[in-house]
Amino acid sequence: MVSSIRDWLQSLDLGQYAETFEANDLNLDLAVDLSDADLKDLGVTSMGHRKNLLRAIDGLRAASTTENGQSEAAAAPGKLSSTAPATPAQAERRQLTVMFCDLVGSTELSTRLDPEDLQEVIRAYHDSCAKVIAQYNGYIAKYMGDGVLAYFGYPRAHENDAERAAHAGLGIVEAMANVSAPQVPLREVEMAVRIGINTGLVVVGDIIGEGAAEEASVVGETPNVAARLQALAQPNQVVIGPLTHELIGEAFACEDLGAHRLKGIAEPVHAWRVVSEGDLDIEADAEPVDGRMPLVGRQEELGLLLRSWEASKEGHGQVVLIQGEAGIGKSRLVEALRERVSGEDYTWVSIRCSPYHANSTLYPVIEHMKRAMGWKPEDDAEARFGKLEAALAQQSLPPDEAVPLYAELMSLSLPEGRYAPLDLSAKQKREQTFYALSGWLLEEAERRPVLQVWEDMHWADPTTQEFLALYIEQSPTVSILNILTYRPDFAPPWPMRSHMTPITLNRLERPEVGAIIAHQAGGKAVPVEVIEHIIGKSDGVPLFVEELTKTILQSDYLREEAERYTLIGSLDEVAIPVTLQDSLMARLDRMPRVRELAQLGAVLGREFAYEMLQALAEIEEPMLRDGLGQLVDAELLYQRGRAPRAKYIFKHALIQDAAYESLLKRTRQRHHRQVAALMEERFPETVATHPELVAHHFTEAGDATHAVQYWRSAGERARRLSANLEAIAYLTKGIAMLHELPDDEERAREELALQASLGHANIVARGHGAAGAEAAYARALELCGQLGDVAELAPTLFGLWRYYVVARPLDETNDVATGSARSRRTSGTPSFTSLPIMRSATRPFVWPILGTRAPISNKESLGICRHNAARKSTVPVRTPGLRAAPTGNDGLVARLSERAQSRIRECVELAEELEDAFSLAYVLCFPGAIVSETCGSDSNTVVERGLDVAAEGGFSLWVAFGKVHQRSLRFEDQRSEISARHAARKRRRDSADGCAHQHAILYDASGQGVSAGRKDRRWTGDS
Ligand SMILES: Nc1ncnc2c1ncn2[C@@H]1O[C@H](COP(=O)(O)OP(=O)(O)OP(=O)(O)O)[C@@H](O)[C@H]1O
Ligand SMILES: [Mg+2]
Repeated sequence: MVSSIRDWLQSLDLGQYAETFEANDLNLDLAVDLSDADLKDLGVTSMGHRKNLLRAIDGLRAASTTENGQSEAAAAPGKLSSTAPATPAQAERRQLTVMFCDLVGSTELSTRLDPEDLQEVIRAYHDSCAKVIAQYNGYIAKYMGDGVLAYFGYPRAHENDAERAAHAGLGIVEAMANVSAPQVPLREVEMAVRIGINTGLVVVGDIIGEGAAEEASVVGETPNVAARLQALAQPNQVVIGPLTHELIGEAFACEDLGAHRLKGIAEPVHAWRVVSEGDLDIEADAEPVDGRMPLVGRQEELGLLLRSWEASKEGHGQVVLIQGEAGIGKSRLVEALRERVSGEDYTWVSIRCSPYHANSTLYPVIEHMKRAMGWKPEDDAEARFGKLEAALAQQSLPPDEAVPLYAELMSLSLPEGRYAPLDLSAKQKREQTFYALSGWLLEEAERRPVLQVWEDMHWADPTTQEFLALYIEQSPTVSILNILTYRPDFAPPWPMRSHMTPITLNRLERPEVGAIIAHQAGGKAVPVEVIEHIIGKSDGVPLFVEELTKTILQSDYLREEAERYTLIGSLDEVAIPVTLQDSLMARLDRMPRVRELAQLGAVLGREFAYEMLQALAEIEEPMLRDGLGQLVDAELLYQRGRAPRAKYIFKHALIQDAAYESLLKRTRQRHHRQVAALMEERFPETVATHPELVAHHFTEAGDATHAVQYWRSAGERARRLSANLEAIAYLTKGIAMLHELPDDEERAREELALQASLGHANIVARGHGAAGAEAAYARALELCGQLGDVAELAPTLFGLWRYYVVARPLDETNDVATGSARSRRTSGTPSFTSLPIMRSATRPFVWPILGTRAPISNKESLGICRHNAARKSTVPVRTPGLRAAPTGNDGLVARLSERAQSRIRECVELAEELEDAFSLAYVLCFPGAIVSETCGSDSNTVVERGLDVAAEGGFSLWVAFGKVHQRSLRFEDQRSEISARHAARKRRRDSADGCAHQHAILYDASGQGVSAGRKDRRWTGDS
């Protein structure tokens, strides 16, 4: 728990007000009485900050009531605390940047200074560190003698914690020159520090201890490495580890220190020294970046920008306000405009707001001025002043007025005697400054058109906002296009005017996401599953697309080949990109009091029902509704419907992932177990309609027995609904869970059922030639052998045969059929056999080659169908009736017995009754057509219906059969017009050829079928 007003403010990310609160003698007890008006009086001008504070004050109030009244919800272990403190009370996983800072030569100091003085010096040093660390929203975990341990990313994450730590490191080094201990003469003492920074995954535990330097226990390698890196640093050096280096990117200049063996760390660690903040030279910014990926989409928005630019150039200055969430492409759109106008003569001005200086007056404008005047870090005050004078000499404002104003603004002292100091009231000074600044910015437009972008206005300090409001009022008459970019949490405080155009950037569409992925992959083919995964996880946010693609392409889940990437692992395991960890966590940490709700929701899934969360969270209803309302307001969740019927959806899949992954593994397991039990007990409808959800929760809970059962029922349900790809996924997950069960007969039986189901789902979804089908049936066959199970042997062989008949040589296929015959003979059971079907169906294929014939019993075949239906077998309805087909030589269709015909019709009915599209397509496309023909009904209608069903289900073999029949029916029509003589001659020839006509059709069918099957294999990439 936080115990001081400073800590409390820091935990809210509002540490900048700590001094004001302390100066006004406000402590945590008194803070609960603060009102909005009080906050305004204290100088909290930002509406957003006041709102945050008021919310947190509510929390303090609730907490103090709870402490006095001991609320049950808060006291109950494992239940969501409705009064969660601003810092997470439970241990959790997170990416953390750890900084160790150590004073150099403290031993030597101790010999030179009186202990009391030394204490004074160390306190002054600690204070300097604390100030800098607070400026970058770091958290001091512990003072250790003369060392300081600080965290960036805990208790609140920020989108750029690694950068913050690096800034703080350099800031501390700089601050050492000015450490002052009033009682101690420090002239002879040169203060220096060594700093080590490292970023990585840790478990942050409960907070231990009290006071300003409470220590949060952090477990993981990260802090150890940070400590070792600190030891590696020379005096006044900041040394960072690999992930910190990756995360700070080009924002800092770094020197590579190579790999180092660090004590206690197994692998060598690569280290860098942070030399300085990145080069913000104005020349470096003058040209658009070359070689980046072309703009994807956004043509309409770019068109708007170009039109505004044209109007601005004509002297009708425009303002375009680009709004959109982080990473949606605001800066990229501006960059695209620059690319489009790159050949033109204009002045480019970029004014950037900074997250670290959201409260420092006119920071973005002053920084721009520094760059425009050409200030360098190494310039001394005199050089800077010279540059300032030189720049102002170009302006119309008289130097006597301008120089003192700008000097004050830019914290330069005036050289004695050269300029009269300003004799203005604060209000007048402010007005004069605004006047001078807008004069500077507007005058350039008299020389040539100006394209001026104000980046990241959500971080603009209140004075900059005020200045901008005045400044853009003046722009309609000058050749300036002002573009403002900001995130949705900023609302422009000025009224909209006709020269202002708002643009809201939305998510990219699927093809656009695909284009970014393709570009990142350097033109190599990326597996479709990977593309789907990225589309699903990124929600069309280009930054997420880029980072996810990079992470996956570099991961072990893909193998890079000459022209493609091949998937070799499960995408379920892909972690959140390290570059996004902090910013995702930051969004959650913004809502510390209701973050637990988000975490529970994340366990339930991307989408969850209010009722389910209510049953799980066990907090009072008003509190739950309020908490969810806050998450919706903060745009972490979308809401559909109203509680108690409401559904909530995480706005971003990655936010859900971040919330979920922040939970300890054992906490996750516990929640999953609770959810699964809850579903079974209270949500039987969900269990019936979404067994895969229950299966998922049992899997994550580590309950393999239940998980396997539910995966099987999910797979079978999906098959019944013709969702065969889903069925494959569910059954595969079930099979993957099996290894967690004891290796006994029960497990083998379970696997046999799963494999048989998987084999069939593969055939239906991916075609008869799918390698997945062969693998599943082959494993099932192995299991039959292992179990000595003769009842399952025949259907398994039948499954295998279906693969063979399309994908393997015909003689091998016949072997499988014969194997089945043997199995039937040995079983001697009345149970299933598919022998007649296999042999008869193989026959047309093997006939011309082997010249064999096999009889078929219609009765037996239909019996099999019924038997299969009754036991929900994976073997679909197959029709008898082919027996007669080749024996009659009178044209296409053999004369079937009445009984055979009626049985075929029964098969159609059976397939319809079972709602088994695969079987229905088969019976309609193949035997059904024969029946209707012989019955005189419209065969074309039957075949067409069959073709529709087959095409919809993607059953290419049945499509091939249907088409063959369609063709032959047409042939029959023509045939009736052929002369009797011709017909007689043909009959004689057929007879002589041994059913050549019939064979030709069936052979054609087999040819098409085989090629259709092969096509399936190519399509699925199976080999
Ligand atoms: N339309 C696009 N086509 C190609 N790449 C894009 C597109 N939009 C964004 N990107 C890429 O996505 C990443 C994020 O975009 P960008 O930096 O412009 O986001 P932003 O909205 O400015 O975010 P922030 O609020 O953090 O400043 C960049 O690498 C950018 O190049
Ligand atoms: Mg941007």
